[in-house]
Amino acid sequence: MARPERVKLEKGTFKKASTFFRFIKPYRLAFTVGMIFLFLSSLTAMIFPYLMGKLIGKATPSDLPSITNAIPEPSQWLDLNDTSTLIIVMMVVFGSQAIFSFFRIYLFGYFTANALKDLRVEAFGILISSPLNFFNKNKVGELTSRISNDIEQLKDTLNTVLATFIRQIITVLVSLIALFIMSPRLCFIMLGVVPIVAIVAVIFGRFIKRIAKETQDASAESNSVLEESLMGINNVKAFANEFFEILRYKKAVFEVRDKTMRIVLWRGLFVTFIIFCMFGSIVFVIWQGKLMVDAGEMIPENFISFILYTLFVGTAISSLPELYAKLQKSIGSTEKLMTILEGDTENLALEVIENPLNLIGDVTLENIQFSYETRPDMEVIKNVSLEIKSGQQIALVGSSGSGKSTLSALLLQFYKPNSGQILFDGKPAGDYELSELRNEMAIVPQEVILFGGTIKENIAYGNLKASEDEIIEASKGANAHGFISEFPDGYDTYVGDRGIQLSGGQKQRVAIARAILKNPSILILDEATSSLDSESEMLVQEALDRLMKGRTSLVIAHRLSTIKNSDTIIVLENGEVVESGKHDELVEIENGVYRNLSEIQYR
Ligand SMILES: Nc1ncnc2c1ncn2[C@@H]1O[C@H](COP(=O)(O)OP(=O)(O)OP(=O)(O)O)[C@@H](O)[C@H]1O
Ligand SMILES: [Mg+2]
Repeated sequence: MARPERVKLEKGTFKKASTFFRFIKPYRLAFTVGMIFLFLSSLTAMIFPYLMGKLIGKATPSDLPSITNAIPEPSQWLDLNDTSTLIIVMMVVFGSQAIFSFFRIYLFGYFTANALKDLRVEAFGILISSPLNFFNKNKVGELTSRISNDIEQLKDTLNTVLATFIRQIITVLVSLIALFIMSPRLCFIMLGVVPIVAIVAVIFGRFIKRIAKETQDASAESNSVLEESLMGINNVKAFANEFFEILRYKKAVFEVRDKTMRIVLWRGLFVTFIIFCMFGSIVFVIWQGKLMVDAGEMIPENFISFILYTLFVGTAISSLPELYAKLQKSIGSTEKLMTILEGDTENLALEVIENPLNLIGDVTLENIQFSYETRPDMEVIKNVSLEIKSGQQIALVGSSGSGKSTLSALLLQFYKPNSGQILFDGKPAGDYELSELRNEMAIVPQEVILFGGTIKENIAYGNLKASEDEIIEASKGANAHGFISEFPDGYDTYVGDRGIQLSGGQKQRVAIARAILKNPSILILDEATSSLDSESEMLVQEALDRLMKGRTSLVIAHRLSTIKNSDTIIVLENGEVVESGKHDELVEIENGVYRNLSEIQYR
């Protein structure tokens, strides 16, 4: 497992993290009030040692410096030396602390849940509007983990880590002030010992954690030796290498033993250290306090409060580094999230298009050159020019990797060509709104992937406003109505993850129905019949022919029988058009690529 990377806190990091406050802003009232309650609950908690001192110490009034002298003495109307009053005051203090805590937790939860909801929605909106190039460069798994895990981590931080961090800082500050008021001298003695020991304890703890990890790694290593040799037991036996495997495993196991012994030693030392130093230093402070009490320099009730405040400081300080590390980690994940939010997006309408362009369907490609950003040195499309008239059927053939699917991606404006331009109805693609332009095209892709809903939902994806009748009509046109009606649940049949519960040919017909429903001016079929048996192929082909009627269509095919009647056949090789013409013309070319292909296929 990869170790969570440490993020250095730099200026840029904070800048990115601070853009996050944009999401908190709408809920700043809840945040501020929550903060006030956090302060109140932390402060009320700090009264506890003082009251305990009163309760246990119960001393006679003294003119020595007392914390009560610093706080306006309310004893004219509230006699804290009276035990029952003191108990009532304690109940009131704890009661209010409980109530404050409730509101703090509620308000923090409220603003966190809302801010993260906004963040999730915005991040998803930006991700889904990102150009395909972005997805070529980023792993989907990583992106989903950003939106789920990183945000979850933020939730933790905002809900608890931040609050605890602030509370501990308040605890340290208030305790120190109280300690100082009670006895400046003892306060300095305490400051000289307890925090230092607490910090050393934390560093020590980290060190032990690190060697614990080494032990884990060593034991994982020994497990992998075990697994390897048993999985490859045939190999081991065939080579008579048992002795070698035994030696290998022995070595790994001995290493685990050595590492474990090292950690046992350090852990023992650590516990000894904690008991000796941490408690020792507290005992030392208490001893000093006792000396002062005996000398009449401090009143006993303050002494008890003093001990409690000292314990508070000790625990608070030792928790700070861990909390700080958690905050650091969260700032790191916020930074990564913000990188998503700052990403480029396509200029999309993000709504149902009310007034479609209704293109005539003339498509012109002028000297298109293209290479993928991830492989800039490999020119996938080299100077391709094409003229497709409205209603024509153009076929694209060529060997695997020749750039056919890439060309269709360029047509759909998934990528921008490096040079040259694509015209629709004589106007450059850039002159149209991207969403409106894509709304005029439909693709039946090489690999149909459906959404994990019902068949009906999947067909309706082509036109979200379609009625039930229109959906059925489209399915009939796609030769899909038959098989859909045979399912017990009909159109409400679930297709499973990515459409896994449908056969290849069924998926393709659902995709065709979807395209019919979209009613595009331009149609792209990327090997829509590639993996079908002849009967399904016939059904699909029939549906496709119906779909292509009256539309400009670009058909990519390996099987030449399906494109024989195309208006023009373009032969692509290594991103270049090497031949183009009608079937009858192309088969005449001596040694032609198309002729060779058809000879192989029709032989
Ligand atoms: N997303 C991508 N990033 C980088 N290179 C890519 C990408 N997609 C395709 N390519 C490369 O571009 C070239 C053309 O691929 P394309 O998918 O257009 O071929 P094709 O003609 O459709 O092949 P097939 O008949 O096998 O579907 C190939 O060399 C391929 O490796
Ligand atoms: Mg392809």
